[in-house]
Amino acid sequence: MKTTARTKLCLVISDPVEHSLGPQMHGAAFAHLGIDDQYHYAAALVKPEDLQQAVEGIRALNIRGVSVTVPHKTTVMKFLDEIDPTAEKIGAVNTIVNDNGILKGYNTDWLGIVTALEKITTVTNKKIAVLGAGGAARAAVFGLKEQGGDVTIFNRTPKKAKELADEFDCGFASMDNAEQIKLVDIIFNATSVGLHPNTGESPLAADYITGNQIVFDAVYSPYETKLLNDAKKNGATVIHGLDMLLYQGVEQFKLYTGYNAPVDVMRNVLMKHAQ
Ligand code: ATR
Repeated sequence: MKTTARTKLCLVISDPVEHSLGPQMHGAAFAHLGIDDQYHYAAALVKPEDLQQAVEGIRALNIRGVSVTVPHKTTVMKFLDEIDPTAEKIGAVNTIVNDNGILKGYNTDWLGIVTALEKITTVTNKKIAVLGAGGAARAAVFGLKEQGGDVTIFNRTPKKAKELADEFDCGFASMDNAEQIKLVDIIFNATSVGLHPNTGESPLAADYITGNQIVFDAVYSPYETKLLNDAKKNGATVIHGLDMLLYQGVEQFKLYTGYNAPVDVMRNVLMKHAQ
């Protein structure tokens, strides 16, 4: 580590925060590019009731960039000076950049999803089922629609699926109609089902996954979810949640430093810590 008094600080703020892989991922990228004298990345536990003060602290301490995760992505918006129009539309900020005391909020989650998908397919005109209608689904629906995908939202609570579908002008259905998912090209899981410690659960019955499909799980812990296991068994192509984490981080890295991120270095770090 080459930290000096000129080093700019970046942080991840979250509650809980100990499991964040941001410090390892960004730290390895700074070191690889030889800019670890310019940037240092650490983690801060911020409780919901302390969020406003934490944001004032970003300004007061001249912290360069902040990654925002659960549960602060929406509430943080009202404390910032500017919001990027895309983050405004998604209704969530996962990245704050401090330019001379002006705090601007961005969302890179949707780019994490789209970039990971576009490594192996085009999204335009593809039939896509988004499972879930919460925060992760909002970023997914925005990104996939933006790339010209034909999106249908499937959610346990159909009312929430309808509200999201109305807002983003796409289709919706209840999970009771999950057999329709057999007909789509891409399945994106934006529910929390399968997340550690409930690793035996999947948001979708294995019977509804076919060998022609791409199945992308936003859940990255465990690395191999039941959904992805079932998809592999049925011959589908899978994309791990870790890829979304990687590519949203790649975009953050550019916003913080202005440099192109060393993607492979960041991927290797994430893989090393994947569970
Ligand atoms: P996030 O911000 O991570 O997306 P969220 O806003 O709480 O979290 O949304 C969680 C999503 O997972 C919701 O779509 C939720 O479905 P409901 O709208 O019906 O609550 C979905 N979800 C969570 N647990 C689920 C379960 N056991 N089965 C099906 N869907 C589930």
